[in-house]
Amino acid sequence: MPFPFAVFLFLTLLFTSVLAQDASIVNPTTAAPSATALATAKGYTYVGCWNETVGVANSNGARALSGGMTSANNTMTVSSCLEYCSQGYNGATMQYAGLEYGRECYCGAYLSALSEKLNESARCIYACDGNSSQVCGGALALTLYNLTSDSKTGIAWSLVSAQPAWYSAAALVMLIVAAVL
Ligand SMILES: *[C@@H]1O[C@H](CO)[C@@H](O)[C@H](O)[C@H]1NC(C)=O
Ligand SMILES: *[C@@H]1O[C@H](CO)[C@@H](O)[C@H](O)[C@H]1NC(C)=O
Ligand SMILES: *[C@@H]1O[C@H](CO)[C@@H](O)[C@H](O)[C@H]1NC(C)=O
Ligand SMILES: *[C@@H]1O[C@H](CO)[C@@H](O)[C@H](O)[C@H]1NC(C)=O
Ligand SMILES: *[C@@H]1O[C@H](CO)[C@@H](O)[C@H](O)[C@H]1NC(C)=O
Repeated sequence: MPFPFAVFLFLTLLFTSVLAQDASIVNPTTAAPSATALATAKGYTYVGCWNETVGVANSNGARALSGGMTSANNTMTVSSCLEYCSQGYNGATMQYAGLEYGRECYCGAYLSALSEKLNESARCIYACDGNSSQVCGGALALTLYNLTSDSKTGIAWSLVSAQPAWYSAAALVMLIVAAVL
């Protein structure tokens, strides 16, 4: 009886996929008192808990960090968000990285002027879905990180020092070719 078996298989797959989906949804959990924001990582420095602006009058629904990149998943940690934002977007440096609801990561070149600093112990209270020892914002509240000027110098330095010798030799050859042309 191939047909009923196919139906059975289909229903089983449907049921397990629904179960799998449910299992993958991790609701925000309140962070333990020991949970902290990382002081610095990937060149970013923690600058406090800031308000999301979607519901603020005159924001037209714009987020506190808009125009950059967004990512959300159930393995979110501070480090993975900062790593994501540090890669930049369309050549623009993501000056800010913010985590919200335990699983959302926002990157932006600017912080909305409408966003305000909040009481972090009252508002940035969700543990990161990917690491319960870290804080990943709260409801309409961002655990905010700012790229420091020191780190930019550090990145530039490491890029320069990481160039192997053939790189400058190749650059010289290019210059000569360019001069001949
Ligand atoms: C924070 O944002 C929410 C909605 O995004 C708004 O309702 C609230 O008034 C804001 N709070 C502050 C202190 O700006
Ligand atoms: C979750 O998002 C972070 C930050 O964008 C990313 O580094 C990580 O790879 C993502 N994990 C999965 C499973 O997609
Ligand atoms: C911040 O929130 C915490 C927890 O709700 C509260 O105990 C504390 O007094 C608040 N701090 C300020 C400055 O309002
Ligand atoms: C979780 O976060 C804590 C605090 O930042 C850190 O010490 C620990 O290494 C992290 N755990 C993992 C598995 O990354
Ligand atoms: C982020 O850093 C920039 C450059 O140092 C500074 O101008 C800006 O005020 C900082 N923003 C916050 C929210 O701390």
